[in-house]
Amino acid sequence: MFMPEFKRFLITSALPYANGPIHIGHLAGVYVPADIYVRYLRMNDKDVLFIGGSDEHGVPITIKAMREGVSPQKIVDRYHELIKKSFEEFGISFDIYSRTSHKIHHETASAFFRKMYDNGQFIEKVSSQYYDEATGHFLADRYITGTCPHCGYENAYGDQCEKCGTSLNATDLINPKSVLSGNSPVLKETRHWFLPLDQYEDWLRKWILEGHKDDWKSNVYGQCKSWIDQGLQPRAVTRDLDWGVKVPVEGADGKVLYVWFDAPIGYISATRELTPDWEKYWKDPETKLVHFIGKDNIVFHCIIFPCMLKAEGTYILPDNVPANEFLNLENEKISTSRNWAVWLNEYLEDFPGKQDVLRYVLTANAPETKDNDFTWKDFQAKNNNELVAIFGNFINRTLVLTQKFFDGKVPACGDFLPVDLETMETMKGFPEKISASLEQYRFREALGEMMNLARLGNKYLTDSEPWKIFKDQPDRVGTILYISLMICAELSILSAPFLPFTAEKIRKMLNLPLLKWKDASHPDWLKSGDEIHNSGLLFEKVEDSQIEAQINKLMETKKINEKAAAKGIPLKPEITFDDFSGMDIRSGTILEAEKLPKTKKLLKLKIDTGIDVRTVVSGIAEFFEPADIIGKKVSVLVNLAPRTLKGIESKGMILMAENADGKLFFVSPETGAENGSTIK
Ligand code: 2FM
Ligand code: ZN
Repeated sequence: MFMPEFKRFLITSALPYANGPIHIGHLAGVYVPADIYVRYLRMNDKDVLFIGGSDEHGVPITIKAMREGVSPQKIVDRYHELIKKSFEEFGISFDIYSRTSHKIHHETASAFFRKMYDNGQFIEKVSSQYYDEATGHFLADRYITGTCPHCGYENAYGDQCEKCGTSLNATDLINPKSVLSGNSPVLKETRHWFLPLDQYEDWLRKWILEGHKDDWKSNVYGQCKSWIDQGLQPRAVTRDLDWGVKVPVEGADGKVLYVWFDAPIGYISATRELTPDWEKYWKDPETKLVHFIGKDNIVFHCIIFPCMLKAEGTYILPDNVPANEFLNLENEKISTSRNWAVWLNEYLEDFPGKQDVLRYVLTANAPETKDNDFTWKDFQAKNNNELVAIFGNFINRTLVLTQKFFDGKVPACGDFLPVDLETMETMKGFPEKISASLEQYRFREALGEMMNLARLGNKYLTDSEPWKIFKDQPDRVGTILYISLMICAELSILSAPFLPFTAEKIRKMLNLPLLKWKDASHPDWLKSGDEIHNSGLLFEKVEDSQIEAQINKLMETKKINEKAAAKGIPLKPEITFDDFSGMDIRSGTILEAEKLPKTKKLLKLKIDTGIDVRTVVSGIAEFFEPADIIGKKVSVLVNLAPRTLKGIESKGMILMAENADGKLFFVSPETGAENGSTIK
């Protein structure tokens, strides 16, 4: 039945950046399908390792750290723990969930680079890269944004356009802007190491375009083809950054490996961390290596990482890279930065014990061949109309009837009618049908078949109407329930990769041992007289109020985003401590306030600064009545060059906080800070 040519399986799932929690897009695209596949392999007694971990380097992390004013280590520690815990709770059954800040990863990535370096597999080049003069940084990858030359998307990153998926060099961007200061960058020379992808073009053509035309998904194959056909260029694999794996070469101070060079090596380091036998998984051609990823990762896993593996020379290559397209949320692109997502950790809190419901909905809607949409209404409908009304209902009816008519014991099976034989014949076909879909990475289709088995059970029960005939034909009812219980048992096996928590509950209710996939084709392990017990409903209805609460949460996010977009305030350029301490800010008190005639916004204030009493003209009239602010404590920038406004010399400025609506608030020292106290 299953790809007999492989001795073992190494399944990797993209290492998520540890700069935010996991959301449903990650789950639907990568982790749920990978987990289904791995659980299926394990049920087939395959030797399999499932590798995961956090990607803790790269600019997304350092940008987040900068925005929060904390160290990158603090960010990755926070999110690694959160991600790891929520994966565990959600039942993503990694054999290891590691992280790229581990020492073993730095050693592995460093040695990998060094071997390629020693073998002369990099080109060393001085090239011009964008540099932010205001902050003194080279602008690697996501430190720069601009317009994508391929699709015109205005917020493409320096390494990739998230809209069209094209991988970019920062110098390809039109109208580049520094994320640090918002300024236009300048070009400045710097030395880096490049992987000459152009030299691998012929090999890639053979390996992918000829070798994997039929077994790779068409979206994956298509992206690779378009890349190769456009002609490959050497790609820099080092960066001028201080967060990452140091470049292990003399004279490379202040440089680290490009995150996309080190991250996929993270799969290798995690395997090393897991088992001393790691080499047999990575180096024996009898291992099948499969990378589960989202579509934005295709080029890195199908082109760049394979070129690295090939160059290093001792590793196997991926047999398949079943990348998914994207999942949208309520018709909009999921976005971590705009908080437009359903976060796994929040889902687990809001819907305790309902892991399988989300696994089901995400698989049924998996963006396997095109982008797809998650809506809360659909979540409710799939739960109520499919899991509750079909799957749960069938199992529950069977168990309730067995309890009622046979005291909770598997009844004896009598003679079969044609309908029984037909039902049993159909039952037999499911394991193979589902296997065929799973082995071709068609998880939606596989799930649909599993549900068809539950539908078969429901129809069989409904058509046979055992509740109506028990009085006259108890033996016939025994046979009907025996067959129905066989379907329940078959469901407990075949649903296990998709709905592991539910499958386990059914197994316990039926008192079954741990069964394998092959056992589903000959369900003769239920014996008449065996005790079963119904421990309650497998699925409950999701109520309208629960869905409304989730939709309201998203509406709140939308409001916040709209306000922020209207007031988009770019981050100012970095300053030194000296720049800051050049400002003389003092605690003061407003003594007098009056509106300036013929102006809407200006108030003329007399302020006691502790040094003197001076006049300050301030644009706060729309928010404060003069009489209300007399006596107010304020922070005053006292060494600002004087300016004349409406004929009045204003000496200094009072500090105000402005919210997203443009409303102003005083930044007031606490009572007790005497006038003239310095603010630093
Ligand atoms: O796109 C991402 O979220 C990357 N952190 C995926 C890395 S996958 C692998 F190479 F580690
Ligand atoms: Zn684009």
